[in-house]
Amino acid sequence: MYTEKVMDHFENPRNSGEIENASGVGEVGNAKCGDIMRMYLEVEDGIIKDVKFKTFGCGAAVATSSMATELIKGKTLEEAEKITNKKVVEELGGLPSEKIHCSVLAEEAIRAAIKDYREKEKSQ
Ligand code: FES
Ligand code: FES
Repeated sequence: MYTEKVMDHFENPRNSGEIENASGVGEVGNAKCGDIMRMYLEVEDGIIKDVKFKTFGCGAAVATSSMATELIKGKTLEEAEKITNKKVVEELGGLPSEKIHCSVLAEEAIRAAIKDYREKEKSQ
C-alpha cells in the first residue's frame, strides 16, 4: 500500500535525531491517533542549516517527516513555511488516503519550530 519511496524513507529516515541547543523546536500531536512529532531547526542568517526530527508515530509519519526535512534543509525560513503536506506527499509519490492526515504532522511541526525560533529571536 506504500510506494517504494515511502518505504525507503520509512526504513532509512533522513535527518532523524535531535539537535542540541536548537534554534527552534516544534512539537505537535495528532489528535486522530495521539502520535507526536518533534522538529529541531538550526537557523543561521535566515537559512535552515540543519534539521532533525523525532517521531513517535506510524510509518507514514516517519516517511513524511523524513521527506519534509530533506525539502527544507538549506532553504530560507520563508521557503520552508511554504512547504505543505500536499507537497511532501507528492514528493513521496502519494500516500494511501487514510494516511494523509499523518503527513499533516510534518507540516505542522515545521511551522511550530519556525514560530518557536522567531519567538526566541524576538525575546533576545
Ligand atoms: Fe499517527 Fe499516522 S497513525 S501519525
Ligand atoms: Fe494515524 Fe492518520 S493520523 S492514520
